Amino acid sequence: MGMKWALITGAGGGIGRAVALRLSQDGFPVYVTDINEAHVRETARLVKQSGGDVRSSVLDVSDEDEQQNVIDQIDGLYAVVNSAGIYWTKPYDTIAADDFNRQFATNVTAMFTLSQKAARAMHDGGRIISLSSRAALGGRNNTHYSAAKAAILGMTKSMALELAHLQITVNAIAPGVILTDMLRKRGDDLDSLAAELPLKKLGEPDDIAHAVSYLADPRAGFVTGQVLLVDGGRSIGGSNPF
Ligand SMILES: NC(=O)c1ccc[n+]([C@@H]2O[C@H](COP(=O)([O-])OP(=O)(O)OC[C@H]3O[C@@H](n4cnc5c(N)ncnc54)[C@H](O)[C@@H]3O)[C@@H](O)[C@H]2O)c1
Repeated sequence: MGMKWALITGAGGGIGRAVALRLSQDGFPVYVTDINEAHVRETARLVKQSGGDVRSSVLDVSDEDEQQNVIDQIDGLYAVVNSAGIYWTKPYDTIAADDFNRQFATNVTAMFTLSQKAARAMHDGGRIISLSSRAALGGRNNTHYSAAKAAILGMTKSMALELAHLQITVNAIAPGVILTDMLRKRGDDLDSLAAELPLKKLGEPDDIAHAVSYLADPRAGFVTGQVLLVDGGRSIGGSNPF
């Protein structure tokens, strides 16, 4: 058997980069990809600098030919982390079909088609881990994003059932508010966002990387079809005592 590679999409972004660095520290050779070439190169440089084994390539996850090209370059694919995602807020009444179509193309369909191709290339068990969101439970100005992130949950559970006989586990992580560019672009007051959470702090990309590390580990082989909320307690309650 060859090396156990981990393939990460959206690895130029906050969470994807932290995942790449963490899985590399865990001993995986990592294949990092992103639609943004400069950002993914920087991730590859950071992994290399920390002593990791890394390859990188530009990958627009919505392009199925590019997906296949990347997968064909990996000998010994073991884990896929679907972190590439797009986000914008819109008041409910201004959301159009196009918002839904764009959300689903990148945040759902691309995750599915890439995972499907990846699973075909996994010959000794494997791990598929997709970034959903706490927003899957509902959020203001988020109907299109929330719908897409909830779709990832159904996709994850169904794929987990159909890939189980191959010892490929399929799980999702649903982060709450994590300090990355995606969040900073929203322009909220970060202190008041943190104050609303039971744990009174925002998440860091490393909080998500740690959850990915657990699910990607070969020792996590009895966990499949699950959704892990990593959200500072947001999903169990807010600041209101009642
Ligand atoms: N930051 C948060 O608070 C938060 C919360 C819940 C869920 N998430 C999810 O976590 C994942 C990572 O988010 P992040 O915070 O690191 O965001 P980010 O914006 O920092 O990173 C996302 C990355 O995806 C890349 N990307 C966008 N479209 C792409 C495409 N078509 N093909 C390939 N790459 C593409 C971007 O270039 C960027 O590098 C996303 O799926 C996001 O929805 C984030």
